[in-house]
Amino acid sequence: MNNESLRILTPADKPVYMRLMAQAFERGKVQKDTVYDENFGSETAGIWKNDQLQAAVTVRPFAVRWRNAASGTLSMGGVAGVATGIEARGRGYVDRLLRDSLVRMRDAGQVVSALYPFAWAFYRKFGWEWVGEKRSVTLPLREIKATPEGRFVREVPSETAREMLAPVYDRYCARYNGAFSAESHQWSDKLSHNEDRTTFVYAYFPDGGTEPTAYLLWRYDSGSDAGEIREFIAYTPDGYRALFGLLHYLGTQCKTARVVVPADPPFWLQLHSWEVKTCIEPVFQARVVDVCAAMGQLVSPDGFPDGASVTVQVEDGAAPWNQGTFRITTESGRIRCSPESENKAADATLDIQAFSQAFWGAPSLPMLREAGRIEVRDEAGYENLCRLLPAAPIFTMDFF
Ligand SMILES: CC(C)(COP(=O)(O)OP(=O)(O)OC[C@H]1O[C@@H](n2cnc3c(N)ncnc32)[C@H](O)[C@@H]1OP(=O)(O)O)[C@@H](O)C(=O)NCCC(=O)NCCS
Repeated sequence: MNNESLRILTPADKPVYMRLMAQAFERGKVQKDTVYDENFGSETAGIWKNDQLQAAVTVRPFAVRWRNAASGTLSMGGVAGVATGIEARGRGYVDRLLRDSLVRMRDAGQVVSALYPFAWAFYRKFGWEWVGEKRSVTLPLREIKATPEGRFVREVPSETAREMLAPVYDRYCARYNGAFSAESHQWSDKLSHNEDRTTFVYAYFPDGGTEPTAYLLWRYDSGSDAGEIREFIAYTPDGYRALFGLLHYLGTQCKTARVVVPADPPFWLQLHSWEVKTCIEPVFQARVVDVCAAMGQLVSPDGFPDGASVTVQVEDGAAPWNQGTFRITTESGRIRCSPESENKAADATLDIQAFSQAFWGAPSLPMLREAGRIEVRDEAGYENLCRLLPAAPIFTMDFF
């Protein structure tokens, strides 16, 4: 008899769920009851056997910035809390829950998805693939010089920071696919004072005015002469100079500061020396949840002729609705995508992992082709696809 079932959690399931999370992610640390809010449950699916929770997967809804989306954002399912009890591992529970999460995301209109993997190979099997590049940089504070703009940096009380900084954040993020919209951005987490440390907020007000155009969030490490820049938001040369001017004076207390920045534009353009240590990593692992719905959210590029098209064959073993050949074309400035009715070989063939990377914008289609990740039968169709899915920088400062 099959006594296993898959269902969405309810508030009554909170104690057993918290136990599973403590075991999977906290090495057994007893969790405070306040970790999960009152809406607990609705975003999490679990597998139950004999009324015992075996495994769980959460999908959190976020709006992320998208450069060529008609509305400027896309709906994203952030996959989190993927866990199976130790004694229940290796039985395919998470396999089943991830496939189920794709159905839930598709039905909720979440056309893209992202997650922070414990192992890239594990989620690759389900269509998620690395996208974008970010740089974790260690800055030698004592090498940073004072700047005239540094005089216009003021501390902002963290209680009022969100309202004041949201337009700066928004302007900065417009450049990046995948950056959380100002509404989705996890301000309270970013601005909070926790782990027994204060988070300081500093903003640059050009010429001493009232509208900031750059900011950074700073926290000292405990017990070492380093610190963390939790967000470094600057999009103009004077904004960079102003924030560096502030960091110069932190150099009297701290040797180094860690900061995570996008690969584009290169941070080195603003500051570089032998002491600047840079580690390059993917932004996260992401996929397209629904090929046609995702393409349908995009605008066609300037000057792209109405009706020009490409046929694309996609292989997706985890989301069967993406499996097949699709015709992608443009109509009145928007992209349209539908299953191809003509039975002939597609212009381009790729798996959902490569399609997802191309859709997100990094690595780009030409890079994927060079790496042998896309098979091209028709050059004109491929060129159209390159214009419809252009290279784009990806970045986010949010974790889930
Ligand atoms: C990762 C985890 C969720 C997998 O759960 P599960 O229910 O055992 O998953 P499934 O049964 O569907 O798949 C297990 C299979 O995944 C594969 N797998 C496990 N780790 C892998 C890895 N690092 N890379 C590639 N494949 C891996 C194996 O093939 C394994 O099969 P096996 O029985 O032959 O060893 C579980 O081990 C867990 O809870 N770990 C601790 C919390 C955690 O790290 N979660 C992930 C957060 S991103």
